[in-house]
Amino acid sequence: MKTVTLMTHSAENTEALGVYLARRLKGGDVLGLTGDLGAGKTTLVRGLASGLGLDTAQVKSPTYVLMHEYPGEIPVIHMDAYRLEGAGEVNALDVDLMFHPHKVTIIEWAKNCEAIMPQQTVWIHLDYQDGDQRNIVFEAQHARAQDIVQYMESFEK
Ligand SMILES: Nc1ncnc2c1ncn2[C@@H]1O[C@H](COP(=O)(O)OP(=O)(O)OP(=O)(O)O)[C@@H](O)[C@H]1O
Ligand SMILES: [Mg+2]
Repeated sequence: MKTVTLMTHSAENTEALGVYLARRLKGGDVLGLTGDLGAGKTTLVRGLASGLGLDTAQVKSPTYVLMHEYPGEIPVIHMDAYRLEGAGEVNALDVDLMFHPHKVTIIEWAKNCEAIMPQQTVWIHLDYQDGDQRNIVFEAQHARAQDIVQYMESFEK
């Protein structure tokens, strides 16, 4: 298990972290985001989309439609598992659509579908601190995911 803990001090700072992380991503990478309502998951996704050269105006929490796809050189699957309930709903998800080798997959509330999250998932836990501060913990087990986590150690705020 490889873990890196960072702190951001504003929404812009979290977006910048997303831009930085995006530079390291390639097709097949999977990010599993956890953290309470308003912790900054979608803010991070906006930074990631921007860093991948996608249109960030499209990025919204896909709470009501479950999944969005943003087209681009590396397309992004953006999913929100907030509303998923129980193993039946999780097992009904189309994993071939969600985890595509040519796309980056980002899942908010990924704990809700932990059973289907692939081994190479980079887990990103966002936590409220005082005011606009957020604690962001990166966690990985798989070698490729550990590389990504290691790289995040060099993020300069
Ligand atoms: N350091 C920070 N990082 C991220 N967002 C911050 C930070 N400080 C303040 N904010 C604010 O917190 C809110 C984060 O909202 P966001 O939609 O990104 O959360 P979320 O985790 O996706 O929530 P939900 O689970 O409801 O989808 C925004 O209003 C953002 O401006
Ligand atoms: Mg969100």
